[in-house]
Amino acid sequence: MQSKADEIRFSIALMPGDGIGPEVIHPTRKLIDQALARVGGVALDYQELDAGAECYKRTGVAMSEEVFQAAAAADAILFGAAGLPDVRTPDGIEIAPQVDLRFRLELFAGVRPVRSIPGASAPLADPRGSQLDFVLIRESTEGLFVSRGKGEVGEDYVRETWEITRAGSERLFDFALKLGRRRKQKGSPGIVACVDKSGVFRAFAFFRKIFFERAAAFPEIDARAFNVDATALDMIRQPWTFDVLVTENQFGDILSDAGAALMGGMGMAPSADIGLKHGVFQPCHGTAPDIAGMGKANPTAMILSGAMMLDWLGETRDVAACGVAADLLERAVDAAFATGELKPVEFGGASGTDEIVRRVAEKIASLPLSA
Ligand SMILES: NC(=O)c1ccc[n+]([C@@H]2O[C@H](COP(=O)([O-])OP(=O)(O)OC[C@H]3O[C@@H](n4cnc5c(N)ncnc54)[C@H](O)[C@@H]3O)[C@@H](O)[C@H]2O)c1
Repeated sequence: MQSKADEIRFSIALMPGDGIGPEVIHPTRKLIDQALARVGGVALDYQELDAGAECYKRTGVAMSEEVFQAAAAADAILFGAAGLPDVRTPDGIEIAPQVDLRFRLELFAGVRPVRSIPGASAPLADPRGSQLDFVLIRESTEGLFVSRGKGEVGEDYVRETWEITRAGSERLFDFALKLGRRRKQKGSPGIVACVDKSGVFRAFAFFRKIFFERAAAFPEIDARAFNVDATALDMIRQPWTFDVLVTENQFGDILSDAGAALMGGMGMAPSADIGLKHGVFQPCHGTAPDIAGMGKANPTAMILSGAMMLDWLGETRDVAACGVAADLLERAVDAAFATGELKPVEFGGASGTDEIVRRVAEKIASLPLSA
């Protein structure tokens, strides 16, 4: 963060990645700047960084050490999406610098809000299915992903195992419980649920025990524990009962795609990977090679991830203007969809990337600065 006379400047590492990543990140950057310019007092300096499958094809590395260091030095990282199904390392797995960033920067809390946007497509027939507002926290540095690149592969067997630590679980649960408390102050029910499989695995009996130990320090929170399979059922049967869910890395990976579906599709679901010092903000979706280069990508998830970045900068650096710009950006998305005229190609409509961006830009320009 730099501060001149009356302007605060943050440095942003801009990592477009592959496929539709560049198509959604560049217009999002313009919308972020537009929102900040309306609020005034804060500006962003971007440094574009090369990482991903195309970078691997060209250079032999998915993310160079120089690029990693530049990303780590920035105030925040805005990430598109990376990886292509046919670009793999010799051991057969895909290029995923976003996963490397999570581990190397200790971004332990994957924050995946599931919030219905009025006027956007909602897949559930029950009207309560279009009024969702819950957050899934996916642990992002431990769990099954610890095995990534290290699994034992024999002729006739493979072995990849979970790893869950006390320290990793405590910081995760404290993050989720604090989020539950903040949400309760704004009117949510204050229910924080640990999602696991503790009846079967000792690892999750351990995980659940630590959850309740930490929850004891949050008497205002209604702390619960759910089995992951029952949670999958309830994400479709009654997702309106959720407030904050907190879970292991692989379970969270799967459940968060179900969360994206509840918002209408991958193009609607934002995310943030948060650690004690760093934050990476990126849509939940991947590089969508099936639609890349066609102008069909829905940029909403990327735009909302940009709003999460501004909100996080505002909160962690105590800069109120960032919070105001984040709120403006989010309300602009809501207002653009509320007209009912935006029908992303993803939902079978005709609105491509440019139209969605244009309508959000119009709302940023015309909405009042506070709700
Ligand atoms: N965080 C990341 O960078 C990330 C996450 C997931 C997958 N990936 C990579 O992306 C590649 C494709 O993976 P996948 O097909 O499993 O998942 P994906 O999210 O890229 O695509 C799944 C489906 O959703 C659609 N979709 C996704 N985003 C969309 C958007 N913004 N607008 C409209 N439609 C959208 C796609 O067209 C596709 O039909 C793989 O190489 C994978 O490894 C990267």
